[in-house]
Amino acid sequence: MSSRKFHPAWYGIAAVIVAGGLLGAGMILWLRSARGFSCMAQPTAIEKSMATAMRLMAMPARARTRINPYAASVTPKDLRLASEHFAGHCAVCHNNNGDAQTDFGKGLYPHPPDLRKSATQKLTDGQLYYIIRNGIRMSGMPAWSMDTPRETWELVNFIRHLPKLTPEQLARMKRYDPKTKYKEPIM
Ligand code: HEC
Repeated sequence: MSSRKFHPAWYGIAAVIVAGGLLGAGMILWLRSARGFSCMAQPTAIEKSMATAMRLMAMPARARTRINPYAASVTPKDLRLASEHFAGHCAVCHNNNGDAQTDFGKGLYPHPPDLRKSATQKLTDGQLYYIIRNGIRMSGMPAWSMDTPRETWELVNFIRHLPKLTPEQLARMKRYDPKTKYKEPIM
């Protein structure tokens, strides 16, 4: 009489399928109960550090070390023009002062970071340039590759200047913010 035994490998495969199913069900339960899919949530610390690490790994090594050709020669006029550019294209999410406390910024997941803080300021000029021109996949950060390279480098200079922005500069930027007809301001 032949005993019909399963090959041992099948037990392993079955265990993997069951474990995968349990893990999937657990994740769905966790997402539904704890956070759901709301963009208003804050990414967890693990999610944040993993996303940042992956983003930096995905960036070509030569992008990091690119030299900003306009860093040393930045004039008050360059900063003024870049502040207008930032107010027009970036502030709707990042706010004129870079703190991202705007309706768009608060409603995006992940939220845009406060550009004045060290996490952004410690990126190299080359990394900031690369991020602005290529955007960030699976986030609200668009690619701004239609600008001239100089315009992007001047935005990098302006981001460096954000922590030192004066009340006068901030007030002036308001003129260049996008306007809406709705009562609630978007920023
Ligand atoms: C529609 C919203 C939106 C607009 C407009 C926008 N950004 Fe962003 N930006 C984001 C979001 C969201 C992130 C964060 C993405 C992430 O963490 O994965 C981000 C990230 C960044 C970062 C990376 C900061 C860091 O510490 O990692 C830089 C630099 C940046 N934006 C610059 C700009 C500039 C300059 C402009 C205008 C030319 C601009 N952004 C326009 C949403 C926006």
